[in-house]
Amino acid sequence: MSLAVTLSRAQEGVSAPQVMVEVHLSGGLPGTHIVGLPEAAVREARDRVRVAIQNAAFEYPNRKVTVNLAPAELPKDGGRFDLAIALGILAAGGQVPREKLDECEFLGELALSGDLRGVSGVLPALLRARARGRRVVVPRANAAEAALVPEADVLVADTLADVCSWLRNAGELALPGQADEGQAVDPGVPDLVDVRGQLQARRALEIAAAGGHHLLLIGPPGTGKTMLAERLPGILPPLGETEALETCAVLSVAGQRVEPSRWRQRPFRAPHHTASAVALVGGGSHPRPGEISLAHNGVLFLDELPEFSRHVLEVLREPLESGHILVSRAARQSTFPAQFQLVAAMNPCPCGYAGDARDRCRCTPDQIQRYRGRISGPLLDRIDLCVEVPRVPLAELGAPRSAYDEDSATVRARVVQARERALARAGRANAEINTRELERDCALGTAERHWFEAALERLGLSARAYHRILRVARSIADLDGGAAVLDRAHLAEALQYRRF
Ligand SMILES: Nc1ncnc2c1ncn2[C@@H]1O[C@H](COP(=O)(O)OP(=O)(O)OP(=O)(O)O)[C@@H](O)[C@H]1O
Ligand SMILES: [Mg+2]
Repeated sequence: MSLAVTLSRAQEGVSAPQVMVEVHLSGGLPGTHIVGLPEAAVREARDRVRVAIQNAAFEYPNRKVTVNLAPAELPKDGGRFDLAIALGILAAGGQVPREKLDECEFLGELALSGDLRGVSGVLPALLRARARGRRVVVPRANAAEAALVPEADVLVADTLADVCSWLRNAGELALPGQADEGQAVDPGVPDLVDVRGQLQARRALEIAAAGGHHLLLIGPPGTGKTMLAERLPGILPPLGETEALETCAVLSVAGQRVEPSRWRQRPFRAPHHTASAVALVGGGSHPRPGEISLAHNGVLFLDELPEFSRHVLEVLREPLESGHILVSRAARQSTFPAQFQLVAAMNPCPCGYAGDARDRCRCTPDQIQRYRGRISGPLLDRIDLCVEVPRVPLAELGAPRSAYDEDSATVRARVVQARERALARAGRANAEINTRELERDCALGTAERHWFEAALERLGLSARAYHRILRVARSIADLDGGAAVLDRAHLAEALQYRRF
């Protein structure tokens, strides 16, 4: 029979739907036709596959070759199907046996020499193949990424000829090797010990890290806002295995290298304020993840918040609430995860000195209002912790390190403990618990409830604020030994971080 079927996987968002490559050889004019709505890159595959087959010392069939990539409606771009197409052509012509083809999937682009080149999105493809109990053959360039998926059945190949030898039981393919344990914190991340004073901001940073809460730092120029934010990754709890794989899957489909030693680190993305909406939330004709998805399970740091265009900030609102983003382009839609912690920094006014003790501010009230107006109320409403970062007296800057200037390792130990309490209770960070978990885990005594409601009434806060403050209070209690019932001190501290 001159029909053969091989299996591969496409890339759609962070998922990897199966693609069947059907190859049929028939009489008629020799030539190769690829059908199933392939895009330009797949059409080019025709030439690459022909030369690669010849260079691997096989014969390219001198017949009519029809290749169908099914299902037709899936997006198919890149050279990721080259290997599956080449093997289908060889199997249809009887040049390689079919026995192993049925339980295997193949990913890889072919060079003209017959060497295999790495492709993007290997990690999500392996997760899906694992669920189906299938083995996957991947290019050597993707071996480190493949090793991260526990219990995946993966073989690594260097060339098309290697794969063919293996199919003929004439040679072996390599295993991807051992996964790197991965460091939880990048040793290059700066340490909190460099920051003098700013006790309130340090405390807010610690609470934000413990509960995964959004944080806004406001203060005049040169007081340490950027410094503090850049030290957040050093105190965050490590990624769990599932989270780490989710985060790596986004990197993988974005075509970025997954560094094995860093796969357990929470991402920290700091796009510049000139970034476009597409760069931030994702998009393009082949929808690609944006910064908010690359920050999945980690931190998105927006320095100089009011400098971002208003439109860019508005598109953040929806993913901030839902934890994912739907990117639509022409006929295609892709969903990318975007469960990130927002950390932002800004000056209080255009000149930067509003509220300064020495009365240096030269802005008119109107200018200040316009400046703050660039950040919409609904966006601010989603930020749980807002803290002022005032000027540090010069004497304090030059003074030797005091006991309050703790290093990142000390703070991180407390954060990890608090986060473990949250995980044990609800299985997720406090910032992400739903209303039911909130009612269960943020119980208040009658007196506390009356006090809290009166305080909210006085401050004129929204219903969203009510729930968000309780979540922050929960994190404060978790840092404070994990008391089951929130007390007034927890609530009062959480309230003071609420400015809007
Ligand atoms: N609290 C601090 N402790 C130690 N050094 C500090 C502190 N605050 C500021 N500095 C020094 O000032 C420099 C600038 O700090 P940073 O960039 O964090 O300021 P910023 O608040 O982000 O200012 P801007 O509003 O202009 O962005 C730091 O690199 C550091 O040398
Ligand atoms: Mg700064």
